[in-house]
Amino acid sequence: MSCKILRFGKKLTKACRMKLKSPVLWKSGFFPMGFLLVLSISIFVFSAAAFAETQMQQSEQDSADSSLVEQSSTSDTVVARSDSASAAQNVDPEAGAQADTTGQAAKEDTVSTDTASAKSEPHGEDRFSHYRNDIKRGERFFRGLLPHNNQQESCVSCHNLTPTDTLNWNPSAMDIANKYLEKGFAEFKAVVMEPSGGKMAEVHKDYSFEDADLKTVKAYLDDLSMRGPAPVKPTIDRLLLFLFLGLVLTWALLEIIFFRKIKYKAIPLIVFLAAFSYQAKMIYEEGVSLGRSQGYEPEQPIKFSHKVHAGQNQIDCKYCHFTVEQSKSAGIPPTDLCLNCHSLVREGTRSGKFEIAKVIEATEKGIPVEWVRIHDLPDHVFFSHAQHVNAGKLDCVECHGEVAEMDVVKQVEDLSMGWCLDCHRTKEVQFVDNNFYESYGALHEQIKKGEIDKVTVDMIGGTDCMKCHY
Ligand code: HEC
Ligand code: HEC
Ligand code: HEC
Ligand code: HEC
Ligand code: HEC
Ligand code: HEC
Repeated sequence: MSCKILRFGKKLTKACRMKLKSPVLWKSGFFPMGFLLVLSISIFVFSAAAFAETQMQQSEQDSADSSLVEQSSTSDTVVARSDSASAAQNVDPEAGAQADTTGQAAKEDTVSTDTASAKSEPHGEDRFSHYRNDIKRGERFFRGLLPHNNQQESCVSCHNLTPTDTLNWNPSAMDIANKYLEKGFAEFKAVVMEPSGGKMAEVHKDYSFEDADLKTVKAYLDDLSMRGPAPVKPTIDRLLLFLFLGLVLTWALLEIIFFRKIKYKAIPLIVFLAAFSYQAKMIYEEGVSLGRSQGYEPEQPIKFSHKVHAGQNQIDCKYCHFTVEQSKSAGIPPTDLCLNCHSLVREGTRSGKFEIAKVIEATEKGIPVEWVRIHDLPDHVFFSHAQHVNAGKLDCVECHGEVAEMDVVKQVEDLSMGWCLDCHRTKEVQFVDNNFYESYGALHEQIKKGEIDKVTVDMIGGTDCMKCHY
């Protein structure tokens, strides 16, 4: 009997064990196993590195922030910060780049007083500096931990601090914070205490705050805006979990190959498989959120709802996505188009004035809204909406699902090559009475003769590589 070392589950005979210890076998077994070991360790290191990279920026940001906090909390000094850039950094690279420059600008503001004063800054004083204690106190008010003399809910119960799963129509705490960072206390007080507009009057009814207390709330919100969104804690935990699984995995492999201390060989094997598949799952999930694929449902800068517009108000998809029939791209409407209606409709039933005000402000200032792109094919693929919607007479629903039912748009299909091809192989082309297909003489002949009863997309070249790939 030969003593191959990779014999899981079987007990080795004494003779075999003796042999194992002999240098010859050790040598012959050493290479494949050493190879396996090196392989597994390098896979582990590589994947951990890749995983860590995505988290790096975030955690660097955190540590930079927390060190600042420590510094300022030890002595009761004034906290002056200018890292507002972090607020926008997680959106996308373009926004990030832009935010960098604003961050820089903000830094210059605090450093050189010349530029600050030149830019006529009426509220310069309470813009970037607050006492740490005020910020803490403000946070407690905002979270409803300190009572203020009315029966209202805490601010945080409406103005959420962390992203929510379902659309929260109230402005988020970060939204408010960003809007009022540049504005003075008087303006902030006016809007909280003397609400105007139907929704605002209803939700902020009978607010009573001492000025001193409300100032701390403003201080907290300013600080929040400058600090940017809270770090996503679970990701750090996930990294640790990932590394831990890697250790377990490596141990199990070593146990199987070298140590062999555990009597039941199935145990390390099961541990190995479990740890490995959980790691694979984690990598997959990271990949999905990076690759923006199926199910991707990001938060948008304005709480625009297709359910409200295309659903309840029955606005035609093509009214807003007006290039869909003529061009490759369906396009996202400019805010000018929103104003066709929203120059009149200034308040929404669900969101009040806050969200629509963003639309109006963007249009007045001429700053385009930075919508987060959801559907995105790789560059090497050619896809044309005109081809499908105009010539192919397909409905949006076939590829995008029931968008008219969605508050937040979600990618329903995986947009893989297989998905395109599946439809092309089965979908009947609206061949008859469609000018688009007049050039296909031969196929028309075949239909007339009754040789074929339908024409599918692949028959007109829908599976040729060159049709979809540049
Ligand atoms: C009132 C204007 C308006 C109408 C009507 C409208 N949309 Fe949109 N649509 C938008 C805006 C603005 C966005 C970008 C924000 C977003 O993704 O929610 C968008 C985004 C989308 C996206 C996601 C784009 C991406 O980034 O991948 C799809 C898909 C879409 N719309 C399909 C539809 C369909 C289908 C209909 C009809 C049922 C429709 N839209 C009606 C304005 C509109
Ligand atoms: C054809 C008219 C029309 C166009 C175009 C239009 N809207 Fe609207 N919008 C409405 C109507 C009607 C409402 C519902 C108001 C209500 O809640 O009573 C609404 C509501 C809203 C709301 C608030 C929802 C709520 O209930 O609180 C937001 C935000 C909004 N629209 C954003 C946009 C944006 C962004 C665009 C451009 C991409 C746009 N709208 C284009 C008609 C339009
Ligand atoms: C019951 C829910 C609710 C609670 C509680 C609440 N808010 Fe609001 N708040 C809203 C809504 C909804 C709006 C947007 C209304 C609108 O724009 O018409 C809003 C708007 C605001 C705005 C921005 C107004 C603007 O248009 O610029 C500020 C600032 C604000 N809230 C501060 C606070 C503070 C501070 C607290 C706690 C003391 C608080 N809110 C508690 C619902 C709430
Ligand atoms: C045959 C499937 C298909 C149909 C039908 C279809 N779309 Fe698309 N749509 C896609 C794909 C695929 C993308 C991604 C395109 C890309 O990344 O280049 C997309 C992207 C979009 C986008 C994002 C912006 C853009 O133009 O790339 C919008 C908005 C959109 N579609 C709206 C619509 C609307 C509205 C309709 C109906 C009138 C429609 N689509 C019909 C497959 C389809
Ligand atoms: C729901 C069905 C469906 C899906 C999904 C679909 N297509 Fe199509 N496609 C059609 C139909 C129907 C036509 C025929 C219309 C035409 O030729 O103009 C067509 C035609 C085409 C053509 C032109 C073929 C020719 O012979 O000129 C291209 C290119 C194309 N599709 C690319 C894509 C790509 C890329 C995807 C995936 C991202 C895709 N399609 C997904 C139904 C679909
Ligand atoms: C109907 C459109 C269509 C046709 C026809 C088509 N492809 Fe693709 N192909 C796609 C799409 C869409 C993707 C992107 C898939 C993704 O991002 O997951 C893709 C991706 C690819 C990739 C990259 C693989 C990857 O996972 O990114 C290769 C290679 C490829 N196609 C080769 C071909 C070859 C070879 C043919 C001809 C036999 C062909 N394709 C025909 C739509 C098509």
